[in-house]
Amino acid sequence: MIMEKEKPYLFELYPGLEGKIPWISLLTNLPTKIDRLTELEKEFDLEGGEIYVKRDDKNHQTYGGNKLRKFEFIFGKVLQKKKKGVVTNGGIGTNHGLACAIVCHQLNPPLKCTLYLVHQPLTWHVQRSLLLFNHFGAKLHLGKGDISTFAKFLFFKLFHPKYFLMFPGGSPLFGIGSPLGTIGFVNAIIELKKQIDRKIIPEPDVIFIPGGSTGTSAGLIAGCKLMGLKTKIHVVAVYTSLTSNPSAVMKNANKAINYLRKNDKSIPDIKVSEDDFEFVSGYLGSSYGIKTIRGQAAIDKVMELEGHRKNFKLETTYTGKSMAAMFNYLEKKENKYKKVLFWNTYNSNDLDKFVKETNFDYKKLPKKFHKFYEEKIFQCWQFAECPTNIRVECPAYLNHEYRFWKITDCKLSKEKQAEIKERLSKVIQLEDA
Ligand SMILES: Cc1ncc(COP(=O)(O)O)c(C=O)c1O
Repeated sequence: MIMEKEKPYLFELYPGLEGKIPWISLLTNLPTKIDRLTELEKEFDLEGGEIYVKRDDKNHQTYGGNKLRKFEFIFGKVLQKKKKGVVTNGGIGTNHGLACAIVCHQLNPPLKCTLYLVHQPLTWHVQRSLLLFNHFGAKLHLGKGDISTFAKFLFFKLFHPKYFLMFPGGSPLFGIGSPLGTIGFVNAIIELKKQIDRKIIPEPDVIFIPGGSTGTSAGLIAGCKLMGLKTKIHVVAVYTSLTSNPSAVMKNANKAINYLRKNDKSIPDIKVSEDDFEFVSGYLGSSYGIKTIRGQAAIDKVMELEGHRKNFKLETTYTGKSMAAMFNYLEKKENKYKKVLFWNTYNSNDLDKFVKETNFDYKKLPKKFHKFYEEKIFQCWQFAECPTNIRVECPAYLNHEYRFWKITDCKLSKEKQAEIKERLSKVIQLEDA
């Protein structure tokens, strides 16, 4: 069922903002559900503690996750400025870029989408994302290094004034840029506060959230402070300290609050300090996008205990690492009584139907991207010769974050399975982080 809102919670609470802050309705399933994870609670032997998940993974009928919350405000601006396209920047597997391509494609009339992409560790998730960018009509450019690609992205805007330039992740970078994306998550906290008031969830002691460009976490922190919640946001670093650091989080949070206050003086004059949140390091691995032992283990555990039944998925770049940090927190004696909320920022709608529509034809991508497909395999179904009828029914087919032996009762012989496992373990080594 499609449930679009006529105005955001933010305008309901602060009517003075309406008409001053750009916004369009994109999300189709608000408020997002909150599920209790009782199996995980048992697993951690909690003593009065409770674990919940905020199902933002289902906040849109095509592509759920954190991006569209930001985009309601950012694309509000894009349309207000009558732009004909959006240009943005990210890794070759960027979820942000995919969300941008999908929204541009679905708007009526559609907008153009240009993505400036840089290298990240190659996986099937990356291969699949590239096929999907192309499927949703994005124009792709592959750069060599982060800085030179970022410069090209800025240059593009210089020569294409009808495009809206959106920073990577839709957040300010080094304090520069619009706080509109962050405001999407201030809005999200007002939604959560309503759910607390309606006793759908007790006020959480802690929320776990990944921190990449940090707009998501900064918005949650600003929102909690604004709404007087005592909830402490734990921001789990999933990008290098260049952008994912406590000072960036604090600056982004304050930028959002200042922007809101500039537009409506009735908003309380508050300031976020580094004491208002917890910044958690140690889960990233050696670089962005690396798969880690603890991240993968957390993903597997959640799938085994909760994900199958509740139908949500985690992935290795953001949510797996954030879940691993939450597990570590819950293992500690002093946290066994805490009410913990995991904010799920990753889409769990099925995109496989779109992947299939591409016919896996990577040759439709610009030539520079072909190398990412040639002789590169990451999942069992990319090389195991299962009969088609078995393959298409197999849960491992097209899956991109789970190891086949965790999710399927494989029909191949034990020897064959061992051989495939061996081959896969050579392709993707999990880092000890
Ligand atoms: C699934 C997922 N979670 C979290 C994040 C991080 O959000 P932010 O960049 O606002 O820190 C991203 C960013 O791309 C993401 O794709």
